[in-house]
Amino acid sequence: MRLSAVVFLLLLLSSAATLSNAHNITRLLAKHPAFSTFNHYLTITHLAAEINRRTTITVCAVDNAAMSELLSKHPSIYTIKNILSLHVLLDYFGAKKLHQINNGTALAATMFQATGSAPGSAGFVNITDMKGGKVALGPEDNGGSLDVYFVKSLEEVPYNISVIQISKVLPSDVAEAPTPGPSQMNLTDIMSAHSCKVFADTLLANSEASKTYQDNLDGGLTVFCPLDDPFKAFLPRFKNLTAAGKTSFLEFFGVPVYQSLSTLKSNNGLMNTLATDGANKFDFTVQNDGEDVTLKTKSTTAKITGTLIDEQPVAVYTINKVLLPKELFKAEAPTPAPASAPEKSADAPKSSKSKDLSSAPSDSPADAPADDPADQAADENAGVRFNGGRFTATVLSLWLGLLML
Ligand SMILES: *[C@@H]1O[C@H](CO)[C@@H](O)[C@H](O)[C@H]1NC(C)=O
Ligand SMILES: *[C@@H]1O[C@H](CO)[C@@H](O)[C@H](O)[C@H]1NC(C)=O
Ligand SMILES: *[C@@H]1O[C@H](CO)[C@@H](O)[C@H](O)[C@H]1NC(C)=O
Ligand SMILES: *[C@@H]1O[C@H](CO)[C@@H](O)[C@H](O)[C@H]1NC(C)=O
Ligand SMILES: *[C@@H]1O[C@H](CO)[C@@H](O)[C@H](O)[C@H]1NC(C)=O
Ligand SMILES: *[C@@H]1O[C@H](CO)[C@@H](O)[C@H](O)[C@H]1NC(C)=O
Repeated sequence: MRLSAVVFLLLLLSSAATLSNAHNITRLLAKHPAFSTFNHYLTITHLAAEINRRTTITVCAVDNAAMSELLSKHPSIYTIKNILSLHVLLDYFGAKKLHQINNGTALAATMFQATGSAPGSAGFVNITDMKGGKVALGPEDNGGSLDVYFVKSLEEVPYNISVIQISKVLPSDVAEAPTPGPSQMNLTDIMSAHSCKVFADTLLANSEASKTYQDNLDGGLTVFCPLDDPFKAFLPRFKNLTAAGKTSFLEFFGVPVYQSLSTLKSNNGLMNTLATDGANKFDFTVQNDGEDVTLKTKSTTAKITGTLIDEQPVAVYTINKVLLPKELFKAEAPTPAPASAPEKSADAPKSSKSKDLSSAPSDSPADAPADDPADQAADENAGVRFNGGRFTATVLSLWLGLLML
């Protein structure tokens, strides 16, 4: 009985996951002006998109007064995102179900848990029916204190999304811990941990290029880091570049504006890089190829294979090939390029070159051997990690008990 119920539930969940979403949290909350601040922050933290992507969830909203109290502490946007993600329960709790919780208490996993940034059980919310019909909620890491209450149901779309009002922001030291802003972010650590270690190490070894990246973190930066296999294969040629060439080459993989994947998908065209300065264009062309985004120079085309981070103002993507800037590798002509290439007049006056950037002409067009690593990108994109399967199972079975009644 229990087993078939679990199977049924899994079927239900997986079918729900494959269907396209029908709800729009921004629109649902827009009907309730008293929650406009909460709604606004769901949008700018990108949580709204994440909520719309899922079904069987509950959003615990707080009114504008409660949001003002939170904002008066001037948390960074990253901290706000952590706090608000604790307010999205990965299960459906309508008003009825809240008052009929099996045995009077349940633990619900939240989106904060699902991001993997919540240690231990910090990403779980305890829901308990109190005497007198009140329903109390509290983060599991809160020492057992339950001083936030269910106020009323705002919207219910059974069993896709329930939006409820709770009395105040769920207090959680873990979620409220200051989350480093972009300038404290260690880019090379993020790249190293996610299959761009060779590029990151090369960047670290070049203090000028490292500084250029670091200086652009706050104002907006998009990095396209070549995956380890292709970059390792390319290292001998990198070592052949002049010192100035090495710096420009490394800076060529950074763009001094934040570009989300959807922006990249919708905007084709030339893009300047951190290496661009006056006479030295060091640009490349972004071009959509179906669902893929490709980056092109005269001699190479690379494809974006994964997202390491995408948090305004910083995005880091992996690419499957080492993109060769024409300013450094102009001797190369791997394909008999048609003279009518739509690129800008690359062979036009190369007059005012200040630095000697070029490498010695290389005769080995043996490019990066990179065709594979799409699967690792898939891994990294699977942002959902459950560290507390035990708790999840409990909640699921509690819920199931209800369904079966
Ligand atoms: C619930 O979500 C499913 C899948 O996203 C969708 O097909 C269905 O229309 C939604 N139900 C309602 C009532 O919106
Ligand atoms: C959700 O609704 C808002 C406001 O109506 C709209 O701006 C936004 O584009 C919608 N999002 C989706 C994914 O449809
Ligand atoms: C409810 O409580 C009873 C006794 O305390 C226990 O045997 C039962 O397993 C609990 N049910 C759930 C679903 O946790
Ligand atoms: C929720 O918290 C209350 C009070 O601390 C506790 O008695 C109860 O066991 C907790 N519920 C769960 C499911 O852990
Ligand atoms: C990032 O971490 C590496 C070691 O992991 C360190 O060498 C480097 O200086 C750090 N960068 C910044 C900007 O703190
Ligand atoms: C490095 O440059 C030398 C001559 O300057 C050339 O012979 C050699 O092929 C180059 N090596 C690579 C890996 O490009």
